[in-house]
Amino acid sequence: MSRFPKNFLWGASSSAFQIEGGWKEDGKGMTVADYYSFQRSAIQADTSIASDFYHRWKEDIGLMKELGLQMYRFSISWARLIPEGEGRVNQKGIDFYHQVIDCLLENGIQPVVTLYHFDLPYELVKRYNGWADRRCISAFLHYARLCFRHFGDRVKCWQVINEQNLMIRVDERMNLCESDLWRADQIRSQMDYHMFLAHALAVEACHEMVKNGKVGPAVSSTCTYPLTNQPEDVWAAKMNDAMKTLYCLDMHYNGKYPGYYLRYLNERNILPRTEPGDEAVLKKGRMDYIALNYYRTLCASYLPADRTHPRGLRVFRGNEVDFDQYGYFRDERNVNLKTSEYGAQIDPLGLRIVLNEYYRRYGLPLLITENGLGAADTLTLEDKIHDDYRIDYLREHLNACALAIEDGAELMGYSLWSVIDLLSSHQGFRKRYGLVYVNRDDLDLKDLRRIKKDSYYWYQNVIRTNGEEL
Ligand code: BG6
Repeated sequence: MSRFPKNFLWGASSSAFQIEGGWKEDGKGMTVADYYSFQRSAIQADTSIASDFYHRWKEDIGLMKELGLQMYRFSISWARLIPEGEGRVNQKGIDFYHQVIDCLLENGIQPVVTLYHFDLPYELVKRYNGWADRRCISAFLHYARLCFRHFGDRVKCWQVINEQNLMIRVDERMNLCESDLWRADQIRSQMDYHMFLAHALAVEACHEMVKNGKVGPAVSSTCTYPLTNQPEDVWAAKMNDAMKTLYCLDMHYNGKYPGYYLRYLNERNILPRTEPGDEAVLKKGRMDYIALNYYRTLCASYLPADRTHPRGLRVFRGNEVDFDQYGYFRDERNVNLKTSEYGAQIDPLGLRIVLNEYYRRYGLPLLITENGLGAADTLTLEDKIHDDYRIDYLREHLNACALAIEDGAELMGYSLWSVIDLLSSHQGFRKRYGLVYVNRDDLDLKDLRRIKKDSYYWYQNVIRTNGEEL
C-alpha cells in the first residue's frame, strides 16, 4: 500500500531564466538574472539560450507527459510580459504562456506558477533601484494582476515570490552595487519590507481575481543543528533558522515581524520606513499554503558580540548566503552529514523535521516545490546517464516525506528540481539537476538534444505506483 495519499501531486519544477533562453526574443526585456549571468566569468553559460525551452516547449511537455507528471511548477518571466517592468505589455509574451499552459492542461498536467523567480526586470533597477523604492510594489502588483487576469481561469495554484528569504541575502539578486555596500543592510531591510507588501497585495489580488485560487510564498527551507549541546549553541541554531527563514513565514502568516526580528532591526538601526495602511495590507494578505524548497541543513555555533563587533553585525566568510552574525550565530560544518560535490550537506531527515515544524507552527498545507541534487553528470558512449546518486538522493527525501505524512503533516505534493537540466542559479550548466539531460556544455551548445536519464525512468515508476515503489 502506498504511503502517499491518493490525490498526492507528483511534479517537477523549473524557473524562467534558468530554462527558457530566448532572453531578448519577441520583445522580452532584460532582467537582473540576465544582467548578472552576462557579468560572470567567461567559462559559464548565460541566460541567452539556457535549455532553449522557449523554442522546444512542445517537445519538453511531451517528455513531461511521458514521465507521468501531474504538476509542472514553473515561473513566468515578468520582463517577457512587461519588458520595462511597468507600462507597455508585450502581447507575444502573453501568447507564449497561454500556449504553454494550454499544452500542459491538454496533456493532463496542472500548471503551478511562480510570479517572480529571481528575475526582476532590469529597467526597474535603473529607474528605482528595484525593491528599494515603493514604486516597485505598484509595478509588481500590476504585473501580478495581469497574470491573474490572463491565466487565472486555468492556473489555480500560485506562488508569489521564490525564496524571498534567500534572495534578499544575495547582493547580485537584489542588485546591491558596491557603492551601496556600506549601507547594504539598511537597503536590504527596506527591499525585504517592500517585497512583503508586494506579496500581501498579490495574495489579496489572487483571492479577488482567481476563482478557487490558492496562493503562497515559496521559501528556501532548512533546519539548523547546534554544533554542541551548550545552551548558547542551541540558541544560535534556533536564531539561524529564525533570522534566515522563519521571520519570513511569520510575516506571511501574522502580517507583522516577530519580536526577535524587530529586535535585530532595532539594534542595527535598520528598521524599514513604513506608511500608514501598511499594517492592514500585510494582515490581509495571509498565505493559503506554504511552498518550500529544500536541499540541505545547516549547523551553527554561538558567535559572541564584542566591543569592535556589535550585536547583529554580519560577517561573510566567502559564501554570501550563509553569513555569520555577531551576537547570534556562526555557520559550521556538520561532520555527521555527507556533502554533495557542490558542498550541500545532504540530510533527508532534515526534510522530515522541516515538514513537521512548519505544519506545527502554521497548520497550513505544504507543497514541496524544489528538492534535488546538483551534479556534473556524464554522458556515456551509449548516450545514457547513470545517475544512481540522484536516484538515491530523491528516494531518501521521498521517504522522509512519507514519514512526515505519517507524522501528520499535510503535504499536498512533491515537485522535484528539476524537470530537465537547466542553468544553475549561479554555477552555469555543468551543475545539473534534471531528470532529462540537455546535450550542451557551458559554452558549447552542441545540439541541445534531450536524453532521458536513469532517474527519469525511476521517477516515472514512482509516479505510476503513487510512491509505492521508491
Ligand atoms: C533554489 C532556487 O534556491 O535552488 C533555484 O530556487 C536554484 O533557482 C536551486 O537553481 C539550486 O541552486 P543552484 O545554485 O545549484 O542552481
